[in-house]
Amino acid sequence: MASSTLICETQPWKDLKSHVEDIKKTHLRELLGDTDRCKSMVVDFDGITLDYSRQRATPGTMDKLYNLAEAAHLKEKIDRMFNGEHINSTENRSVLHVALRAPRDAVMQSDGKNVVPDVLNVLDKIKDFSERVRNGSWVGATGKALTDVISVGIGGSFLGPLFVHTALQTDPEASKCATGRQLRFLANVDPIDVARNIAGLKPETTLVVVVSKTFTTAETMLNARTLRAWISKELGPSAVAKHMVAVSTNLTPVEKFGIDPNNAFAFWDWVGGRYSVCSAVGVLPLSLQYGFTVVDKFLKGASSIDQHFYSAPFEKNLPVLLGLLSVWNVSFFGYPARAILPYSQALEKFAPHIQQVSMESNGKGVSIDGKPLPFETGEIDFGEPGTNGQHSFYQLIHQGRVIPCDFIGVVKSQQPVYLEGEVVNNHDELMSNFFAQPDALAYGKTPEELQKENVQQHLVAHKTFSGNRPSLSLLLSSLDAYKIGQLLAIYEHRVAVQGFIWGINSFDQWGVELGKSLATQVRKQLHASRVKGEPVEGFNFSTTTMLTKYLK
Ligand code: F6P
Repeated sequence: MASSTLICETQPWKDLKSHVEDIKKTHLRELLGDTDRCKSMVVDFDGITLDYSRQRATPGTMDKLYNLAEAAHLKEKIDRMFNGEHINSTENRSVLHVALRAPRDAVMQSDGKNVVPDVLNVLDKIKDFSERVRNGSWVGATGKALTDVISVGIGGSFLGPLFVHTALQTDPEASKCATGRQLRFLANVDPIDVARNIAGLKPETTLVVVVSKTFTTAETMLNARTLRAWISKELGPSAVAKHMVAVSTNLTPVEKFGIDPNNAFAFWDWVGGRYSVCSAVGVLPLSLQYGFTVVDKFLKGASSIDQHFYSAPFEKNLPVLLGLLSVWNVSFFGYPARAILPYSQALEKFAPHIQQVSMESNGKGVSIDGKPLPFETGEIDFGEPGTNGQHSFYQLIHQGRVIPCDFIGVVKSQQPVYLEGEVVNNHDELMSNFFAQPDALAYGKTPEELQKENVQQHLVAHKTFSGNRPSLSLLLSSLDAYKIGQLLAIYEHRVAVQGFIWGINSFDQWGVELGKSLATQVRKQLHASRVKGEPVEGFNFSTTTMLTKYLK
């Protein structure tokens, strides 16, 4: 395929377009009756089992998807990513988040330089700093230990670390290491978020980590100034050096802000914001909370998937399979959304994180060469842990719109409970639902079955489930730091696979810029009106009306 050829112009795409019409004539009830087909759709890797037999696909579909991968030069694109080529062409950057968790002896090049030694230097610095804070040899301005950390950042400088923190909180090994410590996240510029974050904390025992790739993001900078004022007011301006540190790729404004450059933890422009959780963005706050050893285990989990993604054949490659199936669902069935449904409360923040990774990466309108795309890319990602979601939005998924679902379950609970006299333990109760839901979606319930159950005639239509609703299941052997790292990397690479197939740039995010520049105009107006009493000017009727009301 020439680089300017759109994927939809290739023969494998056209083959899939006609193939989907045949698949539409089948029902998952029949497909699930074919044991050989189902056997071919279960893949195991390093404590993770993927079962995609409830996708509306056959082995023939998979072959056609592998042909599509070939037409899209998927393997070459993966190699180019790992080789540090500037695949983020609109920003002229490498995409090397895999280097953040590479084995110590790995060589990964960006612009002719092996970046692994730089990564290891920052990791060593984080290890040293977090150990000093945790063991009380780094203290605050009044000599007290810093037991509480507020991580200030938004988007990619927030969602990934929050997901990992939430997942580790109840892991027995990690939680033991966090005794007596607190980690909070301040993201929203809403003053309510500031109030909630500082509630119950004292500046003298608090360390603020300002996390911003650019160190220019308006919300983060204002929140950082607000916390700087909170610290200075109580402890004096000189306390800032002891109570504030930073994570950024842009170290000059960090120093200007008043943070000692020795207390700045670097990362690099080859790490995209939403792919930065394995850089100091996540590693610093998480090491402060759980200790470096736990976080290192998380990095090793991510690395295990990186190596698998790089080397496993497509038929056994978890991120590739997941990515191809998502392309199948979005581009050929036209399903616009995907539900991420972990049956683990510890994964409560997984869907919000993946929502950014996926939607900021793949919601694009042009190809990597700037050609308008005649097909939609990306999908609407959302999700909640089961079983909570079952009592909320599953009704729509069962009888309303078709939304492919990812069910994520764990064999061994982080916190098992055994209550005497109960039929099953709590985790088995949770997992009963994890196993039941995919079949409910796939098989549905026919009017004939309802009639056999003597359902009243006027209710038959209401109680009928069409079924044939696709899902896939991921079963993790446990949910420790290593597995959390694996899960993260699987989804990061899945998103990349989708982008590689669609032929877009999954690593830029120009779509967020317009809103930011319009907000600058509004900010100026609010300042002019409040300080100098100037009237609202230069906006359309609607915005003028609303701004005027707001200013009153
Ligand atoms: O929302 C756009 C965005 O640029 C994200 O991609 C990024 O994760 C977030 O803002 C925060 O940016 P920064 O880390 O530079 O403050």
